[in-house]
Amino acid sequence: QPTAWLAGKRVLVSAGGTRERLDPVRYLTNDSSGKMGTALANVAAAAGAAVTLVTTASQPVLPNVKVQAVATAAELAAAMQTEYAAADIVIMAAAVADFRPAQSADHKLKKATPTAGMTLELVANPDILAGLGQTKTHQYLAGFAAETDDLIQNATAKLAKKGADLIVANEVGHGRGFNAPDNAAVLLRPHRAPVTLAMQPKVELAAAILRAIAQDLEGR
Ligand code: C5P
Repeated sequence: QPTAWLAGKRVLVSAGGTRERLDPVRYLTNDSSGKMGTALANVAAAAGAAVTLVTTASQPVLPNVKVQAVATAAELAAAMQTEYAAADIVIMAAAVADFRPAQSADHKLKKATPTAGMTLELVANPDILAGLGQTKTHQYLAGFAAETDDLIQNATAKLAKKGADLIVANEVGHGRGFNAPDNAAVLLRPHRAPVTLAMQPKVELAAAILRAIAQDLEGR
């Protein structure tokens, strides 16, 4: 394979878990480290693509990766929507929080009664990937599905629901997936048999995912 196998392609990747603010010192988040998304960005850049990485994480990136730092789902959505039109390959690897606090206080929340519990009101965040799927023009759109059970069935449903060309399905929990150095995955595409990628370092898994995408684009 030639070294610049993604030359001329513009790749947009999101990475990391979003942080949803409660107050100036507290937030809700998840176990995502941003390693998988950052690996995708780095491999794409090494393969000659022009890469933009929208990320909540601070994993090391190659010098030619354009980084946009974000924290919340709303910021991530805005950055993805701005960059979307100019991208050929879009990969939503970020773990977007499904909910955010209904209110974000501008002062540190106080304990009303030290012994009492408290109820936190949450509102739903929009599904960024599904939104990109609805406004897709020429882009190849990929998402991830992290599942603890019924991997193939749950992830296949997401292909149609999100309007994606590819769902990378992986099992999470009990040390797998989130924040681990290695990962295994199943590639799901419309009208195609699932392709299993064995457990391997995330950089190698990223290369396998991008090679599959490059092959799909060649066939278009
Ligand atoms: O529905 P679920 O969260 O399992 O879907 C995961 C995929 O959808 C990932 O690609 C993730 O980046 C994306 N997602 C999103 N916006 C959300 C939730 C998930 O773009 N609010």
